[in-house]
Amino acid sequence: MTTPPLEPPVTPEHRVLEYVKRSIAGYPLVPVRTVETEIAGTTRSITLKLEGHSPWRSIKGRTALSLIRSVAGEITSPDTTVVESTSGNLGLALSAICHDLGLPFVAVVDHRQSPVIQHAIEANGGRLEWVATSADATTHLQDRIARVRSLVRDLPHAVWPNQYENDANWRIHETWTAPEIDAQAGERMQALFAAVSTGGTLAGLSRYFRRARPGVRVVAVDVEGSTVFGGTPGPRVLTGIGASRRSSFVHASHCDEVLAVEERRAVACCHTLREDTGISLGGSSGAVIAGCLDYLYRHPEIRNVVCLCPDLGDHYVPTVYHPSWLDRIGLPGEASRLRHRMGAACAGFRFGDAADSPHTPKEDSPR
Ligand SMILES: Cc1ncc(COP(=O)(O)O)c(C=O)c1O
Repeated sequence: MTTPPLEPPVTPEHRVLEYVKRSIAGYPLVPVRTVETEIAGTTRSITLKLEGHSPWRSIKGRTALSLIRSVAGEITSPDTTVVESTSGNLGLALSAICHDLGLPFVAVVDHRQSPVIQHAIEANGGRLEWVATSADATTHLQDRIARVRSLVRDLPHAVWPNQYENDANWRIHETWTAPEIDAQAGERMQALFAAVSTGGTLAGLSRYFRRARPGVRVVAVDVEGSTVFGGTPGPRVLTGIGASRRSSFVHASHCDEVLAVEERRAVACCHTLREDTGISLGGSSGAVIAGCLDYLYRHPEIRNVVCLCPDLGDHYVPTVYHPSWLDRIGLPGEASRLRHRMGAACAGFRFGDAADSPHTPKEDSPR
């Protein structure tokens, strides 16, 4: 009788890598939806890439898979704690992944985080580590990063994927998100708009489109008070977009233009789009649309664009879509009165005729 060869033991690293491979293979196609608007007398077509329609409800699901894959070698035991600083969506995705893998997870957060995301992280077994900052503090991010460093030092065995400096952040958007957008809308796309926080999404998309479609204009959308591209930090209310430090990933060569949107205009775009089409988006998507409208106003030759929308409105029911929050940020009264605040002489949106074709590319070469 011959003895079958012994299976090599499955290491924690191997489990993580297998999990990421399967998750990418099974990730559903993220849909697009095209809306139209009249700007400066011309009909413009805006294709919304709706990243909120994905397993962990935001674009950070892709980022989280890439980050966890990049630290797989440091996950040497089942009690390795994953620690990350997050304003919400990355924490939600990492908490779900760590739950599936049976790994402890700590999300370092500040007071601006949506309570919907907080509860979801806790429901996945993640622990919230709060950094106390005053309501108008401009240093949330530095405070969170300092707390991550002290946790990683003090916990017996912890790993920090570090979304702010880990190149795995932008790489996944170059190899996966960007080709997916290209397959869905690349043929007619003249410009692409994306929000910046760490800058990972934009840096990855830009690298791909600079090479694959050099004619496409890439526009970074930030918010006033953010220092992703430098400057002096100011108070901000939206989460997910903007940061109080410079991006390690985005350079001037990645973008044709950088726009800093007023946050209240972003909120006005969220409400108007929802009223006109039923599509409810998060605040950073509203900022992307506000920046896009400005750009279209100044560029009559641009007719077809893509706006990357990082998440949906469901996470922001208690904030962006709540009357008391609107009051607090200086937008009192009826949400429907916000239309005139969108700017760029845009009166509203309707669904377009573009066939929003499905297509299912997967990341080329999972590492
Ligand atoms: C709500 C939201 N907006 C914008 C972004 C873009 O952020 P980043 O520049 O970190 O890729 C993210 C994260 O992906 C996000 O979750």
